[in-house]
Amino acid sequence: MNSVKKITEKIYWIGGSDRRLQRFENIFPIPEGVSYNSYFIDDEKTAVFDTADVTIADQYIENLKEALGGRKLDYLVVLHMEPDHCSQIDKVVALFPDVTVVASKQAFVFMGQFFPESKDFKKIEVKEGDTLSTGEHTFSFVAAPMVHWPEVLFAYDDKDKALLSADAFGTFGALDGGLFADEYDFEKDFLESSRRYYANIVGKYGTQVQAVLKKAQGLDIQMILPLHGPVWRKDLNVLLEKYQCWSTYESETDGVIVVYGSLYGHTASAAEAVAASLRDKGAGDVKVYDVSGTDVSYLIAEVWRAKKIVLLCPTYNGGIYPPMENFLSDMAALSVQNRVFAIGQNGTWAPTSGKLMGDKLAALKNVTVLENVLTIKSALHASDMDALNNFTDAIINA
Ligand code: FEO
Repeated sequence: MNSVKKITEKIYWIGGSDRRLQRFENIFPIPEGVSYNSYFIDDEKTAVFDTADVTIADQYIENLKEALGGRKLDYLVVLHMEPDHCSQIDKVVALFPDVTVVASKQAFVFMGQFFPESKDFKKIEVKEGDTLSTGEHTFSFVAAPMVHWPEVLFAYDDKDKALLSADAFGTFGALDGGLFADEYDFEKDFLESSRRYYANIVGKYGTQVQAVLKKAQGLDIQMILPLHGPVWRKDLNVLLEKYQCWSTYESETDGVIVVYGSLYGHTASAAEAVAASLRDKGAGDVKVYDVSGTDVSYLIAEVWRAKKIVLLCPTYNGGIYPPMENFLSDMAALSVQNRVFAIGQNGTWAPTSGKLMGDKLAALKNVTVLENVLTIKSALHASDMDALNNFTDAIINA
């Protein structure tokens, strides 16, 4: 059954949701599923913006045929060449041999790499400022390099004031029947997934997101049509304000996350004591995470939310406990900035993880690493209470 949905008089959604994929990009768990959005323009000329992931290929092709209603496809516009959106290009070109593919110069290079067998089709190469008219609608292209790949374009439709925003403003999460964000309780249904998607997929590219947000300020945007998640036609500021915050690496809250690694429960126990002490001293927003039991993508999302991050880590093979090291590496890879870090270390004979974590954190931009390192020997003891108090005082006062 086709799942085509009307957005405006001439714009239709022809995407689909996947609830079977375990991990997006084979990395990020998506128990909430994911949608792959594609948009069909039913104008004097027909056009489709992007295809879909191979996992929903049958649904996508059925939708496209339904939307066309027997008409031929004039344009396939490719805003993003990552396979979760471009996997069906060769199928579409084979089904509609007269179609003209519209994309950036670099997208055509990637197309040749992904689809070396499908190169004999009509092409129009576009860049920032170029336009494509389908009749009543004229789409202006906006370069959005590294949001999330270098070839990415956005397209702005001046008739419906709609921004087709590629990966930007997208989210993990399958659509539960509704296409529009205003059909959901965004805070409850999508905010966590949206933050986790942003931080892990686009988080590294805050500067580039800022650049494209500035370009967007010059447009009268009434709708946002991303490649994942719901379409926005109301209260766009809710999402735009989140993007402003996330892309400038500002925290959303003054909250504290306590992330610990623990082989046998002793560092875990210390983490609980730290969290309790922080609560006792008035920190109202404290969350505790076991670095071994929480997928790192959720921890990264929490780093984007919270202001202060407490890391408690055993010394392991003379170094950092590997799951904690992975978390630290991910923070560095995603250019985490503007946070306060507090470090605790555990070591039965030679605690070194504190210094090693401090060295890694010092390489992050604009972060404060508190000097007061909590050191425990095997376990937190009654004799460590003064040190614990000093440690949590420093966090509270930071
Ligand atoms: Fe949803 Fe960068 O692909």
